Amino acid sequence: MRRPIIAGNWKMNKTSEEAILLSNGIKRDLFDIQNIEIVLCPPFTSLSDVRDVILDTNIILGAQNMHWQAEGAFTGEIAPGMLKHIGCKYVIIGHSERRIYFGETNETVEKKVRAALKENLSPILCVGEKLKERENGKTFDVVSEHVEKGLLGVGEKEILDVVIAYEPVWAIGTGKNATPDQAQEVHKFIRGILSDKYGKEISDNVRIQYGGSVNPDNIADLIKEKDIDGALVGGASIKEGSFVDLVKRASDIVKEK
Ligand code: 13P
Repeated sequence: MRRPIIAGNWKMNKTSEEAILLSNGIKRDLFDIQNIEIVLCPPFTSLSDVRDVILDTNIILGAQNMHWQAEGAFTGEIAPGMLKHIGCKYVIIGHSERRIYFGETNETVEKKVRAALKENLSPILCVGEKLKERENGKTFDVVSEHVEKGLLGVGEKEILDVVIAYEPVWAIGTGKNATPDQAQEVHKFIRGILSDKYGKEISDNVRIQYGGSVNPDNIADLIKEKDIDGALVGGASIKEGSFVDLVKRASDIVKEK
């Protein structure tokens, strides 16, 4: 059975002081949750502070981005080995905000996915269509391109270390989440792509998270769906109360799933 994963993508929020406060609260309130993998992805500047707070707990550290090169003259960038060394297990790759505002393409995303795996980091590969693309009936074309190109260099042995996050761009930060049916339809489609490439047994074990306006009120219905294995949470992850509620509600559903 796939162990669901809920990751908080804090985006460009929280000073290190605030990050320590938030992660301490989350640690205290979620210490006994075992049936969900809980991941916090603070900004680079707070990674080591949050690492210290969650050391030896059920909470795991992740980063929001990285470069694909191991080192070199790339001002302002962070290498995979640096993230590994600081204690990250996960790294978000190809978030739509990176694609839209910072020019990331399927090609750079693929390089990053491979570089992460080489460093024993688990990439959370983000895929998803824009509103116009959905309206024009292009959702499946865009998602399959993101998935296939992003995983071009990923073999059978590595795919189980990858998490896919389906994040429809129109649902991010808008308060308008995809309905459970809409999300399940795309998650099933993604699992089909994985099955064609890696076989059914492997694809049945790859985790696919949903992201886009997930909150404590909609998580239960989303996570009930067969192919939804957790959530990548933005806004609701930077307030202690809402993140804690959201994870607890998901945990209750997972017990029944
Ligand atoms: P929101 O939860 O704020 O919609 O953001 C989702 C997201 O982009 C997570 O990566």
